[in-house]
Amino acid sequence: MYRSLRNISSGTELAQRVALGTYITSSKHTRGMEEVLSPGEVTVARSYWPLKDKRRLNVYQQKAIDLAWRNKFTMIQGPPGTGKSVTGAHIAYALAMRLCAEHSPGKDNKQCVMYCGPTQQSVNVVLEIFLELLNHPTPAKEKLKIIRVFSKALEKTDFRGAELDGDVFLHIKPSARCDKRHAEYALHHRIRRENKQILVEERRFQDLHRDGRVPSVDDIVQYRKMKADAEEKVLKSGINIVLCTCNEAASHRLTSTLQPKYCIIDECAMATEPECMVPIRRAEHVVLIGDHQQLQAVIQSKDAEKMGLGKSLFERYATKRHPIHVLETQYRMHPAICEFPSKAFYNGRLKTDPSVMRRQSGLNLTHFWPKHDSPIVFCQVEGEEETGHIGSRGSSSQSKFNMTEAKKIVEIAEKLVCHYRVPNSEIAILTPYSAQKRLSVKN
Ligand SMILES: Nc1ncnc2c1ncn2[C@@H]1O[C@H](COP(=O)(O)OP(=O)(O)O)[C@@H](O)[C@H]1O
Ligand SMILES: [Mg+2]
Repeated sequence: MYRSLRNISSGTELAQRVALGTYITSSKHTRGMEEVLSPGEVTVARSYWPLKDKRRLNVYQQKAIDLAWRNKFTMIQGPPGTGKSVTGAHIAYALAMRLCAEHSPGKDNKQCVMYCGPTQQSVNVVLEIFLELLNHPTPAKEKLKIIRVFSKALEKTDFRGAELDGDVFLHIKPSARCDKRHAEYALHHRIRRENKQILVEERRFQDLHRDGRVPSVDDIVQYRKMKADAEEKVLKSGINIVLCTCNEAASHRLTSTLQPKYCIIDECAMATEPECMVPIRRAEHVVLIGDHQQLQAVIQSKDAEKMGLGKSLFERYATKRHPIHVLETQYRMHPAICEFPSKAFYNGRLKTDPSVMRRQSGLNLTHFWPKHDSPIVFCQVEGEEETGHIGSRGSSSQSKFNMTEAKKIVEIAEKLVCHYRVPNSEIAILTPYSAQKRLSVKN
């Protein structure tokens, strides 16, 4: 990341203007989507995936796609559950098809759409949305060439022989492993499918390690080269969408093989400004998607926070009165839950899609709620917050818990299950702290 930021002056003109916080006036792409893409591609870009449903993108989402298509710098704000990631995936698809239309056949083309987020999870969510499209026989399937690039640390959790420098048997959280459904598009899985010799070498290294021996320096050098060559081959095979974290965008394997002409950053208000600048540095066309009214980036250093690192790029532009397009229809919350955030943070603009009300479970919980017609209650619990350690063997971290609250939660869940016959699978208990989660599960 440091190298990327230091070299910002060699970035694109757009990146330099973004870094300086310049107001970026709209620079309209003269040709609309219908003039560049085939009718089939336009249909896919404008219809809601999963395609099995007859649902459609709403007017705010459609407008967002058009703005992102036409302008070199677009900001899209989406309150919770308004389909930010769904919209971002559609934008990425349309821009990838635009790249295909602009490419001259046979020419070595490095240009791609880079879809980034601050965390691995934020990127996986988008891959899930693409899987919906890729699992259907659409015209998109042939042209869309997606690759998901994880961090090197995560790659090691899938192929433990992959690194030889002492940490082969490092304790790694199993949850960090790559999902089976994502493996098909993951770079580290793909290179091993295409070049079986990599796995053969890794198994041999592990056997040696088990016997207390080490491979020769030549073998290690050769193995690393084999892996780097395999990665280069895949990345230069006409990939048009790369999914990775903002930080990974600075990795040598990506910067040396691809030119991310289009850059989309999801969960942008949760990323720090330097993080965002990493993928933006080389981009000619930028789409920022986020919501500065929700959780911000967590800054550990008080000094860094004092110097302004706590304010994201998204928030900086949003509070400068830069044009920002808002997605106003949400699909996640019951309207009664939506009402408060809508009034408090979004000037009452946040609406609930009618499909949310059709999702009723058939259970009668009217008498469970203190206000019978409103399925929401804020409950004051007088407990004490404590700090404890979670995790084990070298990966322990601090987390918070509150015993009285955990007991109350369990009591409510028991009441729902025993008295109101709600199946366990219909109950979700959410908490921001791992220690609190563990306590509630234990109880
Ligand atoms: N146009 C739409 N029609 C129906 N459901 C939608 C539409 N757009 C989004 N959704 C659904 O809303 C939910 C939230 O979408 P998501 O993109 O994850 O939102 P966000 O990124 O804003 O949190 C998902 O279940 C998604 O399938
Ligand atoms: Mg999202």
